[in-house]
Amino acid sequence: MSLSFISTLNSILSEAFSAAGYDSKYGAVTVSNRPDLCEYQCNGAMAAAKEYHCAPFVIAEKVTSVLSENPAFSEVSCVRPGFINLTLSPAFLADFTASMAASDGFGVEFPAPKTIIIDYGGPNVAKPLHIGHLRTAIIGESVKRILKYMGHTVIGDIHLGDWGLQFGLIIEELKDRKPELVYFDPEFSGEYPEEAPFTLSELEEIYPAASARSKEDAEFMARAHERTFLLQHKDPATLALWKHIMKLSVEDEKKIYDELDVHFDLWNGESAADPYVPEVVSIVKEKGLSRISEGALIVDVKEESDRREVPPCIILKSDGAALYQTTDLGTLIMRMRDMNPDEIIYVTDKRQELHFTQVFRVAKKAGIVKPETELIHIGYGTMNGKDGKPFKTRSGGVMRLESLLSEIYDAVREKMKERYQDEDIPEETVKCVGLSAIKYGDLQNQAAKDYNFDIDRFASFEGNTGPYILYTIVRIRSILKKAQAVLSEKPDFSYLSEAAGTVKALLLSIAGFQDMIQNAAEELAPHKVCAYIYQLSDVFNSFYHDTPVLREENPGKKQAYLELLSLVERILSQCVGLLGFSAPDKM
Ligand code: ARG
Repeated sequence: MSLSFISTLNSILSEAFSAAGYDSKYGAVTVSNRPDLCEYQCNGAMAAAKEYHCAPFVIAEKVTSVLSENPAFSEVSCVRPGFINLTLSPAFLADFTASMAASDGFGVEFPAPKTIIIDYGGPNVAKPLHIGHLRTAIIGESVKRILKYMGHTVIGDIHLGDWGLQFGLIIEELKDRKPELVYFDPEFSGEYPEEAPFTLSELEEIYPAASARSKEDAEFMARAHERTFLLQHKDPATLALWKHIMKLSVEDEKKIYDELDVHFDLWNGESAADPYVPEVVSIVKEKGLSRISEGALIVDVKEESDRREVPPCIILKSDGAALYQTTDLGTLIMRMRDMNPDEIIYVTDKRQELHFTQVFRVAKKAGIVKPETELIHIGYGTMNGKDGKPFKTRSGGVMRLESLLSEIYDAVREKMKERYQDEDIPEETVKCVGLSAIKYGDLQNQAAKDYNFDIDRFASFEGNTGPYILYTIVRIRSILKKAQAVLSEKPDFSYLSEAAGTVKALLLSIAGFQDMIQNAAEELAPHKVCAYIYQLSDVFNSFYHDTPVLREENPGKKQAYLELLSLVERILSQCVGLLGFSAPDKM
């Protein structure tokens, strides 16, 4: 563990402020917002001027003169009204990046490890996975991997929607279609069969049919509610059917999540929270937080500082039924008891924000979580089609994830045809590139923003895309192979100490990795990883264009270049892994 690049510069500047007679707290350094003038900058003199009642320029000048001999910089200048502009010395950069290359995890300073649960995925069982499930899977998986990388213990829980009305609907529809099944025979007292009385495709047809029917047939809807009630009260026949539906549907979901390279540690669902519902009710009652309103049990969660209406959280409906928020509270009791996490992150559509505001407030007020337990909701925006309207299939329906994947694979195969000429394109490669297209296309955007899903653009090998990043990785690997590079554990970058132009730009970009990843982890922001690797790939490609690495005659320098290539490759591969995809052998 060492200081990150910015922390290193901060400490140099802080010492300089104190050597010049000012408080060291003014020594904060940031990346320059005028890259034409300098690489990093410090604006502390501006703030210090207020405390020391003198012109910021005077302070900046004094600090600058302290720094004039500092080997970290090739130039330090002050600019009116009081900015300190910093240009790094290439030798210092070479040294810094060499130590990154030689340390585990590129020398990232890891924070104090926490136990974090991340709740993402959240599909509702018995409905095929569709496009609406994509963002939570992609964002959740990436946030999970980033936090794991930072050394936290992270537990991913899919939190299946497995306890609701959809089961009542399916089972009642099934009863009408196959009344002869033993599950519907009130006299039956034996063991229920092991085999499901339906196939997955039947199930996938039954659910939408039942759901449509319930909208027109009030009697049917009432039966579905009764059936859901039976399920929640553990009626054996209903529970046996529930288990069949769960098994078929979850097996199928696992396949698709595997295909997406999304993996959950826990496959719990709302049903797991059911035993805790009575406890939720008794806690809010005992703590005097609840009241009855129109027959329902509710908790007021409005706060003085609210800028919008936050309605009470309903714990039990007037018919005594638990709701989505009740299960979430029950799940919190369970999670605190089983895993005692420091933090719980939920990744859902941002339209659920109010739901989580209510749940989090009740959980804190009721002491279901500790005051210091962090509850975080990552609410993401809508994935729209190219036309900016919610993504639909050509016939206007909701697209299944499987179909989306095969469309992406087709687009990738098409794009790769020219490159492969007559050669067969390995399916593995198509899948790697396809996943990079979808995942990067999503993650490059701030989660909360809506974005337009554009297969053609996402699958392009040029521009800010996943395939472009993979292409850069594959390219570096092939250069290293061609050069028959033998890499060392402690590379010697002293040959780069005169680096200028694109070589220096590459060193600067590498040096920024640690700060970037710390920041992405703190802000739970995979888009920062995307922005970084896009910039690093670009800088690398210009470097390689300008530098005849393979023809370099000085063997020490050639070796340093190859080591540099390998470092870039390792950083890029690490980062794409954090985004949830990986590079193929060849592209
Ligand atoms: N099943 C829910 C839905 O489809 C998402 C679950 C999110 N997680 C949670 N703990 N509420 O909207």
